[in-house]
Amino acid sequence: MKKSTLLGALPFVATLLLAGCGKSQDVLVVGTNASFAPFEYVGGPNGDEIKGFDIDLAKQIAEDAGKTLKIENMNFDSLIVALNSGKIDFIASGMTITPERQASVDFSEPYYEATQVVLVNKNNNSIQSIDDLTGKHFAVQLGSTADIMAKKYTDKVTAFNSGFEAIMELKNGKVDLVLFDSEPAANYLAKNPELKLISLDFPAEFYGFAVAKHQGELLNSINSTLAKMKANGQYQALVSAHIK
Ligand code: ARG
Repeated sequence: MKKSTLLGALPFVATLLLAGCGKSQDVLVVGTNASFAPFEYVGGPNGDEIKGFDIDLAKQIAEDAGKTLKIENMNFDSLIVALNSGKIDFIASGMTITPERQASVDFSEPYYEATQVVLVNKNNNSIQSIDDLTGKHFAVQLGSTADIMAKKYTDKVTAFNSGFEAIMELKNGKVDLVLFDSEPAANYLAKNPELKLISLDFPAEFYGFAVAKHQGELLNSINSTLAKMKANGQYQALVSAHIK
């Protein structure tokens, strides 16, 4: 008698537990760092909307999974921790697929190819090749692939929570250069004509959506949305709308 009463209460208890975590079955929570236009940025008429290429992909991922998308904006270097603690369900943040990250999360199929580029003040002609990076003072986004890469060339690396702060540091003459992903760098350049973009021979990087380990169902659903969007032209339309 007692046992069956308890069992009967289980679904109710489960709902309460889920509600307690701020998560419900029909919501898919995506984590991002919205300082990375055109992939994710804060904009819209009132300047309080999170928009961008990744966000539009994430919306379709949620819709195909039959869920409502909830966006959590946080520091880039907090994303993997948030994912692995269950605070978010997946990461859509222009995150490069790397073996180090693959040790703690799973990535979707790659959805965008990028590379690192250098931004300097326009009058700085000291960087022609990768060799010229040795010993320079870099500004980067904390926890990014640029942050990791910079340390190969110098021990003078100042890391910021956003690309914007790194750019400010460069404009204020406090660092020699910013190492940043190609599209967001081009985006900052368009708004800061006093800067110059230098493309060097850096390797290609591939962005992927990240999910926690053992989340095969969500990973499959993300991959099938990507495949569908590539096949039906929706992916290309988003590239044209947001990127080029
Ligand atoms: N692609 C780089 C990385 O994975 C930088 C990504 C930064 N993304 C962002 N939304 N701020 O480390």
